[in-house]
Amino acid sequence: MAHHDPLIASDIQAYLDAQGSKSFLRVFTCGSVDDGKSTLIGRLLYDSQLIYEDQMAAIERDSKTSGTTGEAPDLALLVDGLAAEREQGITIDVAYRFFSTDQRKFIIADTPGHVQYTRNMATGASTADVAILLIDARHGVVEQTRRHAFIASLLGIPRVVVAVNKMDLVGFDQSTFNAIDVAFRDFAARLEFDDIMTIPVSALDGDNVTTRSDAAPWYKGPSLLGFLEQIEVDRQSLGAPFRLPVQWVNRPNLDFRGFSGTVASGTVSKGDPVIALPSGRRSTVKDIVLYKESLEHARQDQAVTITLTDEIDISRGDMICSASQPIEVADQFQAKMIWMDDAQLFPGRQYIIRTTNNAASGSVTAIKHRIDIEDFSEAAAKTLRLNEIGVVTLALTKPIPFDPYSDNRSTGAFIVVDRQTNRTVGAGMIDFALRRSRNIVRQDLVVNSSARAAQKGQSPAVLWFTGLSGSGKSTIANLVDEALFERGHHTYTLDGDNVRHGLNRDLGFTKADRIENIRRIGEVANLMVDAGLIVMCSFISPYRAERQMVRDRVGSERFFEIHVDTPLEVAEERDVKGLYAKARAGEIKNFTGIDSEYQPPENPELRIDTTKMTAQDAADAIIALLRDSGLLDDPRLIMQDGGGI
Ligand code: ADX
Repeated sequence: MAHHDPLIASDIQAYLDAQGSKSFLRVFTCGSVDDGKSTLIGRLLYDSQLIYEDQMAAIERDSKTSGTTGEAPDLALLVDGLAAEREQGITIDVAYRFFSTDQRKFIIADTPGHVQYTRNMATGASTADVAILLIDARHGVVEQTRRHAFIASLLGIPRVVVAVNKMDLVGFDQSTFNAIDVAFRDFAARLEFDDIMTIPVSALDGDNVTTRSDAAPWYKGPSLLGFLEQIEVDRQSLGAPFRLPVQWVNRPNLDFRGFSGTVASGTVSKGDPVIALPSGRRSTVKDIVLYKESLEHARQDQAVTITLTDEIDISRGDMICSASQPIEVADQFQAKMIWMDDAQLFPGRQYIIRTTNNAASGSVTAIKHRIDIEDFSEAAAKTLRLNEIGVVTLALTKPIPFDPYSDNRSTGAFIVVDRQTNRTVGAGMIDFALRRSRNIVRQDLVVNSSARAAQKGQSPAVLWFTGLSGSGKSTIANLVDEALFERGHHTYTLDGDNVRHGLNRDLGFTKADRIENIRRIGEVANLMVDAGLIVMCSFISPYRAERQMVRDRVGSERFFEIHVDTPLEVAEERDVKGLYAKARAGEIKNFTGIDSEYQPPENPELRIDTTKMTAQDAADAIIALLRDSGLLDDPRLIMQDGGGI
């Protein structure tokens, strides 16, 4: 018999802990938009009598207005949730459903059908014990089915249950079911599932969902719920090395300093020796606290606070590990990656790489290959597009603690977040750290960057001129360079047309090439700043993300973004190089402002309206800005008499 508990609504974690003795099963569901996933989950919950009376009343009422099932309550509404979503007829967010039967408790992670893969596939799904894959009996195994199965296998979900749904619409025909069963097993044989089960169901009518149905007398197996109740869970991660990703440092008073997080794998006991990474500091577990209660042990999935016998420095993002089996730390990896965004992946672009408790800026340095999910063949690729899966190398701007995904599905997974939109655009699984991550160490230069700057008597900086082709960037940059040079400053100018003749002559004007163009220039500008120079950079640099990347690379205090703001009509009218005419005639493709995007800066240090200002006025304004920022003061003089020139 199923039951519900008011704690479910008020405090899931407390509920789970209270139910600690019952084994629980993490279920992940996937299916295409119309396979009936929401209805199936709704049916599981409904038939498990989990639904609150008032929720039921609301569903019956809403079914009459927005349901798709006539007078019968539309169970998809239960799952689809919010009114706004219902009105649009879509499921918006990832949802976790909790319910329990006498045998065990369940957590179902449900991802919306229209958003193919969400962050949830890397987090919720990655710890799932079983994936329910929905197939519409009328359509059989389709591309989406193969894709979902492949991803579930890639994520290391050990078992899959195929719910062949809408059997009522094919008259519970045995041969239809058998054909799907054979087709799926044939495909999945090449994947790494330990176990595959197929069940004929009708989520709408409830056949074979929580109880066996007479509608398909030829089917001798268990109902879906019956099967889920029986599955044996060998949670291998319980035996895995202890990992506590520190979510926050809990310091209510001077006498207490605890490290809080949810145990990602393994178990820990009082007195255990531990190591914190990346710092490598060692200590011993003094106490394990759960809701003010002191525990002897903690195990995977428990949210606890740990105190140590020594005062060692640990912060959010660190990992406390078993001292004998510490986690690895690296900044370059090979990983499998699933791309989830409409905009393709751009190697070289900085994204946020978020792991269980850490985040770092990082970029894909190479795509080794893309994996074709039809036949698992490897294809060469320059990018990954929506739903594509590939093997890539990644470089982060700082080292992070990690385990290979094959050893630990929690500490080996990451998601990729777009820095501009904040959207989750990809998910990945770490294969291993690249050897160069360990074998290349930074050399400390004897003559360091501040010594070089002091010798030149200046503060190094980057003046970044961005704007359309023909906006006047180079003209203004040249005037500024001249003025600085005359004042005795040490400068250099990097200019689009020039750099593209040498360092970047292999690059064209596709979005990917422009991103790489700016990435390389950013690195060069950074070296020049290190050498103590004031660097003028004059590039269209059409994308905010890359300008931000250079800013981050050289340091915001030394980066001056100057928007040379000339409207397209004016630049086109001037057409100094005759390129706009060619672009209009279709002789040049991807021309900025015509058939390629320009993203104007949102907060530049200076905006120059060239329709109102001469180039000389603009150069004067820039020099004034540098002076006001203290950049032109001679640091040697400041040291001598404590004041500027
Ligand atoms: S960026 O977009 O990658 O930053 P960059 O500043 O290096 O461009 O180079 C721009 C210069 O290349 C333009 O000033 C123009 O002379 C030339 N050019 C040639 N083709 C194009 C194109 N399709 N779009 C823009 N500029 C182009």
